[in-house]
Amino acid sequence: MKIKACIFDLDGVLVDTAVYHYKAWKRLANELGFDFTEHQNEQLKGVSRMASLDLILGWGGIKGMSNEQKIELADRKNTWYTEMIGAMTPSEILPGARDFVIACRNAGLKTAIGSASKNTPTILQKLDLQSLFNAVIDGNSVSAPKPDPEVFLKGAEALGVSPADCVVFEDAVAGIEAAVNGGMKTVGIGSPEVLTKAEKVVSGLDKITVVELDTL
Ligand code: BG6
Ligand code: MG
Repeated sequence: MKIKACIFDLDGVLVDTAVYHYKAWKRLANELGFDFTEHQNEQLKGVSRMASLDLILGWGGIKGMSNEQKIELADRKNTWYTEMIGAMTPSEILPGARDFVIACRNAGLKTAIGSASKNTPTILQKLDLQSLFNAVIDGNSVSAPKPDPEVFLKGAEALGVSPADCVVFEDAVAGIEAAVNGGMKTVGIGSPEVLTKAEKVVSGLDKITVVELDTL
């Protein structure tokens, strides 16, 4: 193969955690006296925890919170979120995701996770996916959020592969931008109307084969 590695975003690519993030953020918003829609929730995809909170507080018209208050709110949301992901099972892996990662490895490609989530280790353990990745770069090991390429560049470095030889799989606009900014090839998971900067877009990892990656 011409490419050497695949770097996978986690939320929305390997597993659909968006519904749990939504439920937990909604509960927080409701406690603060307002609500937001599932459509607004789309804007939170790929966005870090604190940046998500800022967006949500903006939707509720809440201003002037101290940093300490914001950390308390984000912690409260994360407690509910971790309760929900604690009950996840491998049945929640998105269709074809596990098989596709295995096929990449069987083709001699290195594999890594590149996610904004600080809960990545818990989710990988719950889904029993840890053994399928040579490296895991997540919200605990990066300082600059996507679209900064840091998470993917660190992934390529950990795999010992140059960025141009990596394909990044992402469902978020900011994530595709991060991969492009890092000089990597891109496959969007979702809709081509949204992921306009991706080289190829499929609805899920069940809709792509490893040989197609060499045509990118
Ligand atoms: C991203 C999700 O993968 O991780 C975002 O798409 C989420 O919705 C972000 O806010 C941070 O996740 P966590 O688990 O660290 O709160
Ligand atoms: Mg994602």
